[in-house]
Amino acid sequence: MNAAASPLHLSIATDCPETRIPRELYGHFAEHLGTCIYGGIWVGEDSAIPHTRGLRTDVLTALKQLSIPVLRWPGGCFADEYHWQDGIGPERRAMINNHWGGGIDSNQFGTHEFMDLVEELGCDAYIAGNVGSGSVREMQAWVEYLTADVDSPLVRQRRANGREQPWRVRYFGVGNENWACGGNMRPEFYADEYRRYQTYVRHHDPDHPIFRIACGPNRDDYRWTEVLMERAAAHMDGLSLHYYCLPTDDWNDQGNATGFGAADWFGMFQRGTHMEELIVQHRAIMDRFDPDQRVALIVDEWGAWYNVEPGTHPRFLYQQNTLRDALLAAQHLHIFHRHRDRVRMANIAQTVNVLQAMILTDGPRMLRTPTYHVFEMLKVHQDALHLPITLSPVPEYTHEGRTLPAIDASASRAADGAVNLSLINFDPAHEHPITLSLPPGSLAHATGRGRVLTAAAMDAHNTFAEPDHVVPVANDSVQATADGALAFNLPAKSVALLTFS
Ligand code: AHR
Repeated sequence: MNAAASPLHLSIATDCPETRIPRELYGHFAEHLGTCIYGGIWVGEDSAIPHTRGLRTDVLTALKQLSIPVLRWPGGCFADEYHWQDGIGPERRAMINNHWGGGIDSNQFGTHEFMDLVEELGCDAYIAGNVGSGSVREMQAWVEYLTADVDSPLVRQRRANGREQPWRVRYFGVGNENWACGGNMRPEFYADEYRRYQTYVRHHDPDHPIFRIACGPNRDDYRWTEVLMERAAAHMDGLSLHYYCLPTDDWNDQGNATGFGAADWFGMFQRGTHMEELIVQHRAIMDRFDPDQRVALIVDEWGAWYNVEPGTHPRFLYQQNTLRDALLAAQHLHIFHRHRDRVRMANIAQTVNVLQAMILTDGPRMLRTPTYHVFEMLKVHQDALHLPITLSPVPEYTHEGRTLPAIDASASRAADGAVNLSLINFDPAHEHPITLSLPPGSLAHATGRGRVLTAAAMDAHNTFAEPDHVVPVANDSVQATADGALAFNLPAKSVALLTFS
């Protein structure tokens, strides 16, 4: 590989006002879709696959290493077809999963199993309620069943089903994509429905009020945001945003997860930059109605969406995951860091076997994807203090006349004082030498440790035969320069994490 011509200088300011990177930006989403829940997370108590009360032990172990802060469930589009009472107690009522392929969902995985998963992972629950085909009473009852601690019939039912104490549900979504699969509503109608439904999402534990999230826009539907903010902002804590990246930007042919060329590599990161544009535009509308930034923008669905793998069910959204996805994940996490004052939660879609997954399974086999490794590497930023960065001059990455900044970076200071710097090089052909400066005195004798995720091929990925083909590798090549700076060569098409302590 040739080194790019222009040297890049990066300086991290550690002497400026520090604000926290909310750990919830590293949130996840698991839907009753394809084999995300059934087979991927839940195998049931009679399975020969090792499990913990029906939850796959291998998947649990891998997910625990990500320090997942929050998990959204049961959908997605499934949420507005889900009737929670079918999924509790000894007799479960099966249902058709109409939206995702028309198969039968046994409802063996329900409220108790999800809350068990959340407690195993040590994360917060984000439950999406049913507005599209549900009722106010049904939503009200679910919240009572989950969180009340009184002697009501619903609480007695919960106790009879094995859970004495209420659960803590931190986040509750009032519907999902109500502009489409969640009821094809107009924003004016949904705003009124939202106001009505959220009234009954009661705070049974006044010390832990539930954070209520309204269904927000699809990508650049700015009118939806405007109407919701104007008519219902006073009744919400968060407004969601959904945006998926397709390398082709064509829903009839999304492009393939593997075997792609340079155009689709570039195209993907160009779509990735659009996430930042969307956040900027939506937050500008929010600022008009909520200048104090009380309402959070919650990006509760994001990630790569490709054509499904050949031979798999078209509605199961099973796709491979490559080095390109790892860089896309890092690109999004950096964008969320920059907008952390308004964007306070984000949930990648989806945890296992669906879209941009952390984990793929095949019967008893399991692998961690390149996206998993980025979430594991960058978890050091969770709840750390954000440190502003200056990069100059930012090298360009050009493809057929179109240009993107080749490098992106984000830094934070951890509770133990260590400074973590994550770097992305989108350029598939050039490494970039970087000189780094830390403010004098702040980390006077800093030593740098590094980990780099890269591979020879743009579509390098892990398979069940070779599950560790793409993994982060230790890299201790940070060198002190004669003038007291630090030097590092950022490999082509890579994500790096450097730690200075
Ligand atoms: O994540 C897959 C689907 O994408 C979700 O069910 C839906 O909300 C979105 O359209």
